Amino acid sequence: MADIRIKYQKLTFPVEEAYKSLRTNLFFCGREKKVIAITSCTPNEGKSTVSLNLALSLAEAKKRVILIDADLRNSTLLGKLYLSGNKDGLAYYLSGMTGYDELICTTDHENLDMILTGGFPPNPAELLSESCFKTLLEKLREEYDYVIVDTPPIGNVIDSAIIAESCDGLVMVIESNAISYHFAQRVKEQLEKTSCPILGVILNKVDPEAQGYGKYGHYGKYGRYGHYGQYGQYGKNAAEAEKKEEE
Ligand SMILES: Nc1ncnc2c1ncn2[C@@H]1O[C@H](COP(=O)(O)OP(=O)(O)OP(=O)(O)O)[C@@H](O)[C@H]1O
Ligand SMILES: [Mg+2]
Repeated sequence: MADIRIKYQKLTFPVEEAYKSLRTNLFFCGREKKVIAITSCTPNEGKSTVSLNLALSLAEAKKRVILIDADLRNSTLLGKLYLSGNKDGLAYYLSGMTGYDELICTTDHENLDMILTGGFPPNPAELLSESCFKTLLEKLREEYDYVIVDTPPIGNVIDSAIIAESCDGLVMVIESNAISYHFAQRVKEQLEKTSCPILGVILNKVDPEAQGYGKYGHYGKYGRYGHYGQYGQYGKNAAEAEKKEEE
């Protein structure tokens, strides 16, 4: 039996198509772009949702994929999974408490494996800076076609920038109408200081009706998802940071 079962989530046709174009765009980035970090400026913009759906879409296209939950502060990916195995996670591995074989979880989807956080250590940035994280990604690069890394929001904690240093490319998720231009620009400048190129930006939670796509493309009223303040401590900081930015 698989270690992880992914909670079923029906995607509407336009959303499924959007993930297919994202997948194709990633293919066009070239064979060397295999280890991809997904980040955003603030919490709750949809990184974990995008990471999971992109990983599933790549696996459906017969690519061998591993999804790493590297949000060692506030994993939202865990809420999308049923766990049945007894595997250790990334935090245990990075702190030397477990080995590679105890890290890789199988899922109920063909071609898709995962690495979970394994708890929330007090020193995530230090752990992710360990050379063994880079070595782990190098090993996974050999074994999989794509390594998708879900990360915490870059506007609040340094973890994503540290992770990006070991990745081939980075994709930014931006929640429609939630982030000020200046805040996004500042985050982009911060990311440009890393050696990791920004491959692209995903505009998430777009209201298709408000954008003039009509009812055909309707998949929800996204305005209500904008309250990132309630998602953990760093959510509050983000909200404050952005308020200041707007002033
Ligand atoms: N395109 C979308 N349309 C509607 N709801 C969405 C969309 N993408 C994500 N969501 C919802 O937004 C919420 C936050 O999503 P998710 O957990 O993926 O964000 P996150 O960026 O990983 O958050 P965190 O920074 O806290 O890890 C979830 O309830 C998710 O279902
Ligand atoms: Mg998340």
